[in-house]
Amino acid sequence: MQVLNRTLAAVTVLFVLSACTTNTTPSPNATATRAAAPAPTATQTAPAPTPQPATPAILAATTLAEATPSATPALASTPSAAPTACAAKATPAQTEGPYYLANPPAKDSLVEPGMAGTRVTLRGRVFDLQCRPIAGAKVDVWQADAAGAYDLKGYRLRGVTTADAVGAYSMATIRPGLYPGRTSHIHVKVWLPNGKTLTTQVYFPGVAANNTDGIYDAALLAAMSQAADGSEIAELNFFVAP
Ligand SMILES: [Fe+2]
Repeated sequence: MQVLNRTLAAVTVLFVLSACTTNTTPSPNATATRAAAPAPTATQTAPAPTPQPATPAILAATTLAEATPSATPALASTPSAAPTACAAKATPAQTEGPYYLANPPAKDSLVEPGMAGTRVTLRGRVFDLQCRPIAGAKVDVWQADAAGAYDLKGYRLRGVTTADAVGAYSMATIRPGLYPGRTSHIHVKVWLPNGKTLTTQVYFPGVAANNTDGIYDAALLAAMSQAADGSEIAELNFFVAP
C-alpha cells in the first residue's frame, strides 16, 4: 500500500510539475503578446507620418481657401477699374421740348439724299454708373434740319439706333441749325432695356449761341473729331443708372 501511495504521490507530483510546465509555456506566449504590444506602439508611431502628409493637405486646402478670396477682389477690381477710367456721374437730364414724336423708325443714319447740312456722326457708348456697358440700350435721336426746322409731319431727322454688346451707338446725321432761343443741339432719349429712360440733349463746342439759351449744359458738349472721309464725329457717352 505504501508503495502504491508513493507511486500515486510521485505521479501527482509529476502531473503537477507537468501542469506547471504547461502553464509556464503560455508565459512566453503572453510575453510574445506583450512583446507584440509594442508593435502597436510602432504602429502608432507609424501613423505619425500619415498626419504629416495630411497636414500639407490641410495647408493646401487653406491655401486654396485663401486663394479664392484673393481671387474675388481681383475679379471685383476689374469692374471697379472701369469707373476710374471714365466718369461715373449720371448724364444730366434735359427737357424733351415740344417736338418729340413717338415710335421713330429704327436706323443708324438720318441723312437723306440731297439733305443740306454738315455731315456729322453722333456716337458714343451707354454705361451704367459703374461704367458697365448697357448692351441693347436704344438711342432715340431727333433734331432740327440745317435751317433750324423740325419735321412735325413725318420722321425726317428722327430715328432710333441700338447700342451693341459694348454699349456703343452711332447715328449719322447733320449739324442741326439754330432756331430762335436755342443753341445748336440734338435731342436724345436713351431707353434702357429695363424700361428706364434718360431724356437729354447734345451740344456742339464753339457755337456762338452756347450759354445764352438757359438750357445749354457744358456737361453735354460732344467731343469733336474728323472722320477719314472729312465728315465730323461728335462723341458723347451716356451714363444712366439702371
Ligand atoms: Fe430742339
